[in-house]
Amino acid sequence: MHPSIDIIVETFSQKGKLRYGHEQVTQLEHALQSASLAEKDHAPDQLVVAALLHDIGHILNRDQLPVGLNADLHDMHEEIGYRWLMTTFGMDVAEPVRLHVVAKRYLCTKDPSYMGKLTPTSLKSFHDQGGMMDHEEQEAFEFNPYFEDALSLRKWDDLAKEIDADVNGLEHYFPCFSNCLADHAESEGNS
Ligand SMILES: [Fe+2]
Repeated sequence: MHPSIDIIVETFSQKGKLRYGHEQVTQLEHALQSASLAEKDHAPDQLVVAALLHDIGHILNRDQLPVGLNADLHDMHEEIGYRWLMTTFGMDVAEPVRLHVVAKRYLCTKDPSYMGKLTPTSLKSFHDQGGMMDHEEQEAFEFNPYFEDALSLRKWDDLAKEIDADVNGLEHYFPCFSNCLADHAESEGNS
């Protein structure tokens, strides 16, 4: 198996059973439900992988992180995840993950009723992460080429908190990982 898939399997086998913050699901259940929702929406492989791994920054072993990662980023799980995903899978996976926190702020700013869909924990982190966006922040986000992907990912993330949802296991996504790794290797080879 590709070493990066080994790292993903190892990470979830070591820490996947941890509770996802104060939510009713584990890290692994949350990840699998997010990926399952992405698949149901016919997302491309890169976005399915992004959905599956969007919170990997919460549970990645620091020894696996790219050199130079600043240790004080422990609260910035989207940045931690982004850096590992960028080296491993490239921009199409990493950037929607980096933006998934900003996407929640955007959705709540554009439609305050979205806040009513958030769990208490997610609402608390919304405020901690900066709360409502100002006009400039909204525009900058809208201009990001991964704007739509980030909004989709955010919506799956916010729905992926069902108790005992019937979803595929991690191995179901191995072909998806392999496709994304191959695409990334090819694009690196061409650059
Ligand atoms: Fe999440």
